[in-house]
Amino acid sequence: MDIGKVISTQIGPSPTFFAFAISKGKRVSKDQFIRVNTEEGTMIAMVNNVIKTNRYYANPETVVETDNLEQLFQVDEWEFLIAEATPLGVISGSLVSRPTVPPSPGDMVEIISSDVLSDFLGFEDVGLNIGSVVHHDVSSKIGMGKTFQKHLAILAMSGAGKSYLTSVLMEELLNRKKEDGRVSVVVFDTHGEYIGFAEKPPKGIKDFSKNVDAVTKLRIPVPELSAREISIFTTLTHVQVAELSKVIRDLKGSSYDFKDLSEEVAQRSIPPKTKNALIRWLLDLHVTGLFSAKEDIITKRPGEIEEHHRLVDLIKPGKMIVFDLSKHIQKRVRDLIVLWLSRELFRLRRFGEISPLVMFVEEAHNFIPSGASHMDAPTKGVFQTIAREGRKFLCSLVVVSQRPIRLSTTVLSQCNTHIIMRITNPYDLNHIGQSSEGVTGNTLKSLTTLQVGEALIVGEAVRYPVFIRVRERESWEKRASNMERQAKEFEELMAKSSNEIRQAKDAFL
Ligand SMILES: Nc1ncnc2c1ncn2[C@@H]1O[C@H](COP(=O)(O)OP(=O)(O)OP(=O)(O)O)[C@@H](O)[C@H]1O
Ligand SMILES: [Mg+2]
Repeated sequence: MDIGKVISTQIGPSPTFFAFAISKGKRVSKDQFIRVNTEEGTMIAMVNNVIKTNRYYANPETVVETDNLEQLFQVDEWEFLIAEATPLGVISGSLVSRPTVPPSPGDMVEIISSDVLSDFLGFEDVGLNIGSVVHHDVSSKIGMGKTFQKHLAILAMSGAGKSYLTSVLMEELLNRKKEDGRVSVVVFDTHGEYIGFAEKPPKGIKDFSKNVDAVTKLRIPVPELSAREISIFTTLTHVQVAELSKVIRDLKGSSYDFKDLSEEVAQRSIPPKTKNALIRWLLDLHVTGLFSAKEDIITKRPGEIEEHHRLVDLIKPGKMIVFDLSKHIQKRVRDLIVLWLSRELFRLRRFGEISPLVMFVEEAHNFIPSGASHMDAPTKGVFQTIAREGRKFLCSLVVVSQRPIRLSTTVLSQCNTHIIMRITNPYDLNHIGQSSEGVTGNTLKSLTTLQVGEALIVGEAVRYPVFIRVRERESWEKRASNMERQAKEFEELMAKSSNEIRQAKDAFL
């Protein structure tokens, strides 16, 4: 369908820019894709701007001096819409190439069909359907292989819809059929937002619980920790770390917990001050219940008994494991859990003991911060290794963050696809402009005006940067999402409990 005609301007048409007059009654929007035939093939372009013109209002003197302009002339009929467009590529047969010749003035501009746009953007029939292209009826089915070939970053300010989109992405990974290739999914869930996946949802909402387990408790195997890692958790001095290293080295290959380790330390000839402090620290760690001689991963579904597993047995294609970190308030506890798990998962993947893996890291700037020391961010090293080497072993990261500027640049630069939602902080915008390839100044400006649930995809997953609207989620959004609902629920709960207290009193009296 024709929507306008290419016009001649001072700077175009050129292979990088052209403008077109929009036909009367047609609607063209900023960020819409359009097509025009050139001698090279079908040129696909994106509308960057839409401008209204009217020759009667072009001269300020006339506008100010003539009070009755609207009565004298049919001014409405001279209002025209002009769209400015950036050519993105030319399709010729099955090839897409960079445009090298401009369209001609007078060429018809047409609406692009869904199939052509989908192919042009590189979407796949069995891709992950995370939403639809804005202004078009095209599902944004990003290819799983392309998206996770390296790593994915989901970046936006708080409340823009990162966790919602992350849930949609998880649904897509869980919905995949065996014949289309399935990965294992692991989630480091800082706020307990994804545990709803492991529970039976209210009626009418899709149930994912069959393929999802939530880990409520775990015990880290002490023999797998070095003295330096133990010191992350406590505050050991250099001397204490050195003495503990010697003991651990001698115990290599045997099974022990922190109590056993403290008994071993007690028998060593270590200066008493160092020895006593070490024993105290080790016993303190023993009573946290977070450690044992062997790894123990505990899952529990509501109303059922706890189940104990080894990590390797929980990771399966088409299944998702959510590590709920929300109950661990201490940062150091969370760090140690994530450190051990990520290191162990990467090791298992490297030795081919588990299937290809996608690891979601929520609030990633806390685990992989830029410019923090090993002591402040013990997890940073392992994630940087996964970022650099994960690709070879099909171990992908999805880093979700509301503060891109605080995220390690090593990791961000290894993310070959970025999905960016609303961002207004100028420092974060600047950082994104520098770290996301293909984000132009114009696109950056658009990021500040995005609505909740709108996103820009740039990088390997798409052939050209594209704005999408995230689809509605199928899974249960468990947490109360707004203040009104939470306030109402709180009052209902209070009323219910005071009723129950009254009834109990009445029964007693
Ligand atoms: N695509 C969407 N469609 C409908 N509602 C959405 C969509 N995206 C987000 N929301 C709603 O907007 C609110 C904020 O979304 P979300 O929790 O995903 O934001 P966030 O970016 O993860 O924020 P934070 O950084 O604070 O974690 C939620 O109530 C969510 O239900
Ligand atoms: Mg969130």
